Amino acid sequence: MKLTDSHIVITGGASGLGLVLVEHLQAHNKIGVIARPSRGLDALRQRHQDIEIYEADLADLASVELAADALVKRGVKIDILINNAAVQHTPKFIDDDFRYETIRREIDINFTSICALTYLLMPLLLKETRSNIVNINSGLALVPKTSSAVYCATKGALNIFSKSLAHQLEETNISVNQAFLPLVDTGMPQGRGGVKLPADQVAQQIISGIADNKAEINIGKVKLLRVIQRLSPTIATKIMKAA
Ligand SMILES: NC(=O)c1ccc[n+]([C@@H]2O[C@H](COP(=O)([O-])OP(=O)(O)OC[C@H]3O[C@@H](n4cnc5c(N)ncnc54)[C@H](OP(=O)(O)O)[C@@H]3O)[C@@H](O)[C@H]2O)c1
Repeated sequence: MKLTDSHIVITGGASGLGLVLVEHLQAHNKIGVIARPSRGLDALRQRHQDIEIYEADLADLASVELAADALVKRGVKIDILINNAAVQHTPKFIDDDFRYETIRREIDINFTSICALTYLLMPLLLKETRSNIVNINSGLALVPKTSSAVYCATKGALNIFSKSLAHQLEETNISVNQAFLPLVDTGMPQGRGGVKLPADQVAQQIISGIADNKAEINIGKVKLLRVIQRLSPTIATKIMKAA
């Protein structure tokens, strides 16, 4: 199924999977991108002048509030909010290169900013006949790996948040969808081994999952992980510990 004639706002739409989603969606939908200033964002602006850009550093809540305020003040139509942006810091807490300051940044970008945008953009989402909040998640929300403890925790929190929010919004026009991704070939897992799905393929599956309004869009190996987790949580823990 295709997504057409929707007004879509996406975070991190100037690079990585977010950009691939934007390129897939822009021809048949109206797109707003929330992203921090970068060369990628400038290039996107040049390439698609009809895309509306809202600059924000998602690690800075004041900046998130300003972007949301701009959307609300302009009365932008939002059928779909895609919370895509995230960062992942891989050092372990006992590693020499672990940086204390990354803890708050990672939590704010991956989780707090999503809660904030959800709340601040709620008036726009409630206005439509039907709307969706789509949270881009990870298999690591289900079972954590050894490195990236804060990242895994933010994704686990996003999973619980999305489920509770879906309960809260049950009687409204808003659906909450989550896409659970395996390793995807973007900048995030650069330098890491393992089979990475092409971002293009993942973007297409996310789009068709949104079009079908699936609460959980499980992609690639995440389907297998869910089966293993159901049959043997211990084996799932062992597999993911080494991932
Ligand atoms: N790639 C994977 O293997 C994988 C696996 C599971 C889940 N995911 C999830 O997929 C989503 C997309 O990740 P990706 O693979 O595309 O990673 P990516 O290539 O590293 O892209 C991350 C995106 O987040 C944006 N971002 C980071 N910090 C930001 C900040 N402070 N303010 C605003 N935007 C910020 C980046 O913008 P800039 O262009 O400014 O850097 C970029 O667009 C994430 O939610 C990630 O957790 C990815």
